[in-house]
Amino acid sequence: MAAAPEPVDPAPARAEPHDDANWWREAVVYQVYVRSFADANGDGIGDLAGVRARLPYLRDLGVDALWFSPWYPSPMADTGYDISDYRSIDPAFGTLEEAEQLIAEARALGIRTIIDIVPNHVSDQHPWFREALDSPPGSPERERFWFRPGAGAEGELPPNGWQSIFGGCAWTRTEDAAGAPGEWYLHLFAPEQPDLNWTHPDVWAEHEDILRFWFERGVAGVRIDSAGLLVKDPQLAEETAESGPGEHPFTDRDDVHEIYRQWRAIADGYAEPRILVGEIWLPDAERFARYLRPDELHIAFNFDFLACPWEPDRMRNSIESALAAHAPVDAPTTWVLSNHDVTRPVTRYGRADTSFAFESKRAGTPTDLERGHRRARAAALLAMALPGSMYVYQGEELGLPEVEDIPFDRRQDPMWLRSGGVDPGRDGCRVPIPWAGDRPPYGFSEAGADRPWLDPPENWAPLTVAAQSETATSMLSLYRAGLRLRRATPALGDGSLRWLPSADAVLSFARGDDFACIVNFGHEPIELPAGTDVLIASNDLEGGALPQDTTVWLRQANGEAPSWDGSTRPGLSKG
Ligand code: NOJ
Repeated sequence: MAAAPEPVDPAPARAEPHDDANWWREAVVYQVYVRSFADANGDGIGDLAGVRARLPYLRDLGVDALWFSPWYPSPMADTGYDISDYRSIDPAFGTLEEAEQLIAEARALGIRTIIDIVPNHVSDQHPWFREALDSPPGSPERERFWFRPGAGAEGELPPNGWQSIFGGCAWTRTEDAAGAPGEWYLHLFAPEQPDLNWTHPDVWAEHEDILRFWFERGVAGVRIDSAGLLVKDPQLAEETAESGPGEHPFTDRDDVHEIYRQWRAIADGYAEPRILVGEIWLPDAERFARYLRPDELHIAFNFDFLACPWEPDRMRNSIESALAAHAPVDAPTTWVLSNHDVTRPVTRYGRADTSFAFESKRAGTPTDLERGHRRARAAALLAMALPGSMYVYQGEELGLPEVEDIPFDRRQDPMWLRSGGVDPGRDGCRVPIPWAGDRPPYGFSEAGADRPWLDPPENWAPLTVAAQSETATSMLSLYRAGLRLRRATPALGDGSLRWLPSADAVLSFARGDDFACIVNFGHEPIELPAGTDVLIASNDLEGGALPQDTTVWLRQANGEAPSWDGSTRPGLSKG
């Protein structure tokens, strides 16, 4: 077996952020789940001081921006996606002043900051909801939410049959101070996350103010949680299987676009325009692309690619349909392999069924982690080579597997709790990052600190940042080298791709005049096109051929016309 090719000289880290107003079209954005990133104060929960201390790590990794999952004061019923104050920082994470310092320090290292905004719902401890509970039915305070009388003779039944995305009924009945039952309120997620009423002017004004609050503190953009759910059918019609586009009672209703047009105008009002990133789970690519029209959001997560099985035809279809859907609105595609809601790729790609779906019951099914690791490496180089921007979830660059054996009494995710354990929940991808050392918590907290909020497994010593930094073949080294090469290669990032002829089990495409990326999904190693230099490969080549589950980046040697356009058809001849 040939040794893995040495990556070409890495590009120096960018000293300054892109001044280009289009930086976001090709940025590599790293998702920081603060709670699990680094714990500086020893309480077992990650914090902003921990992130500040690790900024050089993020600079060296080569990312352009950080996206912080919610860092605001929260009772943490959904680990921060239940916000009680949108203009401050949860004391477990730090202070507003520290957040401002972090934003400035990151920017000085060439890294922009994106924060998470949760406009669909607030915490049940938010002052508006407390006021609403303390006010009578029909009061203005209740109008900001979806309070309704119950059905049934005594109002004992929920107003309609909507189900919570976390499982169970989407309505909870209120009680007055004496315990007498009253109206019901809507929560598409947990009962601790009451839905806001986006027909109410206060809700619009409040969010406009929140956006400005953070934009004025230097954040470069916002990730918009549950962006397709904000508008509800005022009649509260039941869900039906037949609802046409825009007719679902609470998903992707046409009026939601008005909200984002207003937000875009705010974002565009700054000398350095801010960006809007949508979390939109929609199977219909055309409906999805409507959010990315020039006067709405800038980009949205490509969940089709994230959930796509590791199969060449499915991958190719996913890539093609994403590019085709984005082209008419001139929006760049995002390439996302994981986030804090989904199974870690190393585990998913090691299963018999390599797709992702919530409530899939795949948790705990036989998993070949070695194979999953190999595929996750190949997927990473594929994603880095595709046109558009890339989102990396913390720990993905370390190849962390899903932790599937978290004891039930340690699990915190409402998705697991509310589904009665049917959905494995998302705690397994939220385990603290291992930084160094031989034993848990691997430098996440210092010695003598409180137990981490979730325990890292006993066998993670080889996965720490310190251990992987020592190893040229580690996942971390691959991400570092790949991201540096991506940055140094003008053909990569924003732009288009050209598919090259290849065998069925192979994906092969060119970018620009002299760059090609080939992924071999099949059993047979494939010969590489003649006259090319290997820039980087996700695993060792075998006698110069590209083995199964491996991605390679090629550059045409000596500035000649690319040979991959001609007679060589990767995978059609054996290596
Ligand atoms: C999507 C977020 O990514 C997820 O973590 C959260 O539970 C829901 N939205 C509700 O806010």
